[in-house]
Amino acid sequence: MNLLPVQNKRSKDPGDSKAMVQARAEFLRAGYYQPLAAKLAEVALDQGGEPQTLLDAGCGEGYYLRELLAQAEQRQQQLICAALDISKWAVQAAAKQAPRVTWLVASNNHIPLPTASLDTLLCVFGFPVAHEFRRVLKPNGRLIMVDPANHHLLELKQIIYPQVHSKPEQLPVPADTWQLTDQQRLTFTISLTQPEHIQQLLTMTPHLYRASSEGRARAAALTHIDVTVDVWIRTFVSAD
Ligand SMILES: C[S@@+](CC[C@H](N)C(=O)[O-])C[C@H]1O[C@@H](n2cnc3c(N)ncnc32)[C@H](O)[C@@H]1O
Repeated sequence: MNLLPVQNKRSKDPGDSKAMVQARAEFLRAGYYQPLAAKLAEVALDQGGEPQTLLDAGCGEGYYLRELLAQAEQRQQQLICAALDISKWAVQAAAKQAPRVTWLVASNNHIPLPTASLDTLLCVFGFPVAHEFRRVLKPNGRLIMVDPANHHLLELKQIIYPQVHSKPEQLPVPADTWQLTDQQRLTFTISLTQPEHIQQLLTMTPHLYRASSEGRARAAALTHIDVTVDVWIRTFVSAD
């Protein structure tokens, strides 16, 4: 369902492009991020009640939500799920693969759900809108976020950028309004031995646009690379 009003679109084709969505879908289908999907599902299902109302905000092509639903089914845990993305390409790809979810083309800035309606909100490599997330979560609802940690994709960055600067780690939502209740760092190495997988990884990240043409050419010439996946999985509740 497309609930993105024309006046709220900053571009004619907002969010990830068709090419980015396709690259991400193919890369994720190859299973490289499965340990992350499994851990995220465990965090979401271990802490939540039942039946749990859950939104994946910025769901992409739905990979993490599908893993979560599969784990919930194994545990016989009930979930009522919606997912949104500002990219119509992402939502189209997602909706084909998991019809039981309410898939929405919409923005995190205006989530088309009632106030205090959600137990859990997932924001995976996404764009949090803290006040809107607070509005749609129930008072004890949880925001679960996945964000890159310092060494995420380091070896690929070392290829495409002349220098890699380490940034100070920051929480993704303001500490005065969100209380951090759990954080887990997940670090593992993936071995990419097919050039198309290296290209897909680059295409699905902002590095594709940030890298120079020389940097992209160096990545295009690679035949294999071992890359660190390094992410934070954090759980927040509203601080009031
Ligand atoms: C890095 S991708 C992550 C997708 C997915 N969570 C995953 O990890 O596979 C970020 C996603 O956020 C979407 N996006 C960007 N701005 C958004 C907004 N304002 N509201 C909702 N989604 C947005 C993009 O279209 C894209 O699908």
